[in-house]
Amino acid sequence: MKKILIIGASGQIGSELTPFLRNIYGSNHVVAADCFFPLKGELAEGGPSCKIDATNAQEIADAVKKYDIDAVFNLAAILSAKAEESPMLGWNIGVGALLNCLEVAREFNTALFTPSSIGAFGPETPRMNTPQDTIQRPKTIYGVTKVTGELISDYYFQRFGVDTRSVRYPGIISNVTLPGGGTTDYAVEIYYAAVKGEKFYCPLQAGTLMDMMYMPDALDAVVQLMEADPSKLKHRNSFNIASMSFDPEMIYTAIRKRIPDFVMEYKQDEVRQRIADSWPDSMDDTCAREEWGWNPNYNLETMTDDMIKVLREKLK
Ligand code: SER
Repeated sequence: MKKILIIGASGQIGSELTPFLRNIYGSNHVVAADCFFPLKGELAEGGPSCKIDATNAQEIADAVKKYDIDAVFNLAAILSAKAEESPMLGWNIGVGALLNCLEVAREFNTALFTPSSIGAFGPETPRMNTPQDTIQRPKTIYGVTKVTGELISDYYFQRFGVDTRSVRYPGIISNVTLPGGGTTDYAVEIYYAAVKGEKFYCPLQAGTLMDMMYMPDALDAVVQLMEADPSKLKHRNSFNIASMSFDPEMIYTAIRKRIPDFVMEYKQDEVRQRIADSWPDSMDDTCAREEWGWNPNYNLETMTDDMIKVLREKLK
C-alpha cells in the first residue's frame, strides 16, 4: 500500500485508522473521505481529505484518480440495530457502497478492505469456537449485507483478480469516537458512564456473551492483513479474528475492580437482545493466526486499565 483512501473516515474505526495509517505510510499518502464534510481536527489537518458519498461511484472514482490511490478502505456502515430500523438504508450502504468500491477497485486496480462482522453469523451457526467456514444464515439486514459482501468480494477476487481482503470484526471498544446503532455499543458506553460517575443501564441480559476487541488490536489487524503475503492467504473474505469474549457481568466486574462505586442495572432492549442472541459467543480465529500472523495484545483486564486511564484524561 502506498496511497490509501479511507471512506467513512469520521466514523468509529475511520477516526482512529486514519491517523494510524498516516503515521505508518506518511500523512500525504492517506486521504480521509466522508459524506459528512468538511472533516474536523486531525482528519482534516493531518493530511488530504475530500467528500465522498459512498453510494455515488463517480465520487469514489474521482478521488482514486485524483490521488493515485492503490488501496481503498471502505468503512461506510449502518450498524446492526440502526439498520433494523431502516433495512433499505442498511442494504444501500452495506451492499450498494461496496459494489461501487468493487467496481472502482476493478477499474483502477486498487486493493480493497471492507470489514465484515460477527453479525455475518446467525442462530444456526455453532456458537462456541465458531469455525472460519461454517453456516451463515444471519437474521438481521446488517448480517445479510455482510454475508453478501463477503461473497461478492470473493467473487471479484476470483473473477477479476481484485485484491479484496476482510476481517469479521467483533464488537470494537474505543475511546475516540463513539459507535452508534450497534448491538455491541454497550461495551463502549459502559466505560463512559463509569468514568463520569453515572449509573449504567445495560441493554443486554447477563450471560449474553459476545466477542469484543480493543481498537489498537483492530487497527493492527487491518495493516497485518493488507500487508500479508497474498500467496499465504487461503481465505480472503472474511477472516474470523478474536481477542476476548465477555458478557455484561464480566465487564461490570472488571470496571468495579477499578471503580468500586460504579453501578449497573439491567434495562433490556429487545431488538439488541434478539440480535445478540443470534451471534456467536466466541469465534475460532486459527485461520487468521496461521495465514497472516494475527496475534492480539489486549484482554479484558488490560483493555479496562487503558480505557479508564484514557477516558479519565479525556472527560476531565
Ligand atoms: N459492532 C457491530 C454492531 O453491533 C457488529 O459488528 O452492530
